[in-house]
Amino acid sequence: MALPVVDTGYLREIEKARRDLRALISSRNCAPIMLRLAWHDAGTYDAKTKTGGPNGSIRNEEEYSHGANNGLKKAIDWCEEVKAKHPKITYADLYQLAGVVAVEITGGPTIEFVPGRRDSKVSPREGRLPDAKLGVPHLRDVFYRMGLSDKDIVALSGGHTLGRAHPERSGFVGPWTEEPLKFDNSYFVELLKGDTDGLLKLPTDKALLEEPEFRCYVELYAKDEDAFFRDYAQSHKKLSELGFVPSSKISIKDGVILAQGAVGVLVTAAVVILGYLYEARKKAK
Ligand code: HEM
Repeated sequence: MALPVVDTGYLREIEKARRDLRALISSRNCAPIMLRLAWHDAGTYDAKTKTGGPNGSIRNEEEYSHGANNGLKKAIDWCEEVKAKHPKITYADLYQLAGVVAVEITGGPTIEFVPGRRDSKVSPREGRLPDAKLGVPHLRDVFYRMGLSDKDIVALSGGHTLGRAHPERSGFVGPWTEEPLKFDNSYFVELLKGDTDGLLKLPTDKALLEEPEFRCYVELYAKDEDAFFRDYAQSHKKLSELGFVPSSKISIKDGVILAQGAVGVLVTAAVVILGYLYEARKKAK
């Protein structure tokens, strides 16, 4: 499908959608499932074939019916309410914006959001998302396929600071932390504590303790929340931009439009004005 034109009109719609998402997510307490939706749309990326990724294809019935996506139709329908008000915005941008807003309004780090993702109607075959019953080699297979690193695996697993598992969706039960609507580093603190009554640890969560390359980040994030927030924001941005080449250098952070090209425009304008003044002076002599 066509690449959206990221002009000032599009950026304005993004800001309005951001506000609508904040209201929707806080009134329905649905930050966890919105984050999971953004991750599952992006997490199908294959860096070799450049297929999958954050392209809105999870809205296709063929894809949201994949076993790993059980329960996500609800989040897709909620996003549709925002899409109806801002039809210009692509689904791909909308789902990633929802993920960024979900982290932000639950107390997590600000994640830079660059708009302009293209929608796709083509869904990848089932099986690209990780299987929670497997271990270290599987985690690496899946995340390396996306072009992500060991550090990204651990930082992004910290997304489980939000939400819970539902037996009817995944067969697993319960939250990872005592406050599943608060984005903090408690996922790592709990992971290091070992099994606690009422709190969940998936085999893939426990795998983060087994591999020294992973464990060093678990230990760091458990004792230094700032380090977790800094790395999480970077890894989340990477995940949300897999296979995406921004069409312009315009980025939005904290609702402020930062036009990095503005400096270039100003320099060009100054050169034109100086040239004009020079010509005018020459004529006047
Ligand atoms: C590392 C591999 C991962 C595996 C195997 C995995 C697996 C799972 C499973 C089995 C659930 C429970 C689903 C349910 O029953 O509702 C879940 C929930 C969740 N996952 Fe992951 N996940 C992984 C990585 C991630 C990442 C990278 C993020 C985000 C950055 C994330 C965010 C979430 C959230 C927020 C929920 C809670 C959803 C809710 O409360 O409805 N997960 N995950």
